[in-house]
Amino acid sequence: MDIKIFKGLEGVLVCETSISFIDGIAGRLSYRGIPVEVLADNSCFEETAFLLWNNSLPNQAELQELKNELLKHRKLPQEVLKVLFNLPKDLHYMDVLKTILSLFGALDWRNSKDLYETAIKITSIIPTIIAYYFRYSNDLKIIPPDNSLSHTENFYYMCFGNLNDKFIKALESCFVLHMEQGLNASTFSSMVVGSTLSDMYSCIVSALGALKGPLHGGANERVLCMLEEIGSLENVEKYVEESFRIKRKIMGFGHRIYKTYDPRAIYIKNLLEEIITDKEREEYKYFQMAKKLEEILVNNPVKKLYPNIDLYSGIFYSYLGFPKKMFTALFALPRVVGWTAHVIEYTKDNKLFRPSGKYVGPVHRNYVSIEER
Ligand SMILES: CC(C)(COP(=O)(O)OP(=O)(O)OC[C@H]1O[C@@H](n2cnc3c(N)ncnc32)[C@H](O)[C@@H]1OP(=O)(O)O)[C@@H](O)C(=O)NCCC(=O)NCCS
Repeated sequence: MDIKIFKGLEGVLVCETSISFIDGIAGRLSYRGIPVEVLADNSCFEETAFLLWNNSLPNQAELQELKNELLKHRKLPQEVLKVLFNLPKDLHYMDVLKTILSLFGALDWRNSKDLYETAIKITSIIPTIIAYYFRYSNDLKIIPPDNSLSHTENFYYMCFGNLNDKFIKALESCFVLHMEQGLNASTFSSMVVGSTLSDMYSCIVSALGALKGPLHGGANERVLCMLEEIGSLENVEKYVEESFRIKRKIMGFGHRIYKTYDPRAIYIKNLLEEIITDKEREEYKYFQMAKKLEEILVNNPVKKLYPNIDLYSGIFYSYLGFPKKMFTALFALPRVVGWTAHVIEYTKDNKLFRPSGKYVGPVHRNYVSIEER
């Protein structure tokens, strides 16, 4: 019998979901029915998170309640701080996040029964872990969370010790755009772990591992490395030709679902047009190079490739002052909302994930003792 194999589970539907909808042909993304651009323009981090978790926009009281819950968990316990502040200073932020979140979860095992409560807690502590490691690894004084500030403001403040309204508004839009995107590799990892009825911390640690990879969230960091390697606008065309010749993937392009422009890439590109005012900065040059790459690849007669969210996000983060090694963690900071929303949704009507592989090995083999091999 001819068994069809769905490599990479491409095109396979594994559940019903009402969290987000991607129209890959038209290039549209909506959260709970609301276009992502509308949310990025109008909604804050906390409100969008409420929408994704609860399937409705919050009223004033509900929004305030969620904000209060998020505030409660911003601080890290001493046992965790002791480990964090003894880590080597040259680690990758995704490894720091995985390690510290895993430790936090181990210590919190008695209080992590409720998936929604734990989702809020994890969402709340991730910015603190990232900002603390940023300050610590750069030998800067630690800035504790400020509970008079919103989720995004507080993160920015803990990193830089000041508040820049224009940058924070843009960062918040960027966070909203990254919050959710269907059953991508990291979300699916969290759902697989959730389907075993494991705890939320384990789900998210697994998602972080998946997000780190260069074909997924790790691409934002690789885009900047690629632009640094290309070096100048004049070299862009040569780089593309060479990439096709040696079959090298061009970072920040292509997508499993979008077969046209990723709407988030368009949004962040427009954001950059507004934000990058200083033409002397390296990011201005990188932005021109990224646009040139886009122009070449979108018009390529042989293989049309469209930009995805990662093409422009790294340039944006870099302009704001975040280091390259932090970019993928900046993706995780909002995406944790999508991960946890899917775990909560899926486990309500749970079925253990357990696909099969088509066995192509020998049917029977004799065991040969080690002396006779
Ligand atoms: C995202 C990605 C993994 C999607 O992969 P996928 O759905 O499995 O599609 P494939 O990798 O099989 O690509 C299909 C074809 O397009 C080509 N392609 C896709 N993305 C490409 C890229 N970024 N650069 C060059 N070629 C690319 C593949 O080489 C393949 O060509 P072929 O059919 O001639 O072999 C892929 O586009 C990629 O690796 N992109 C670069 C990394 C990136 O930006 N990731 C962030 C995603 S949001």
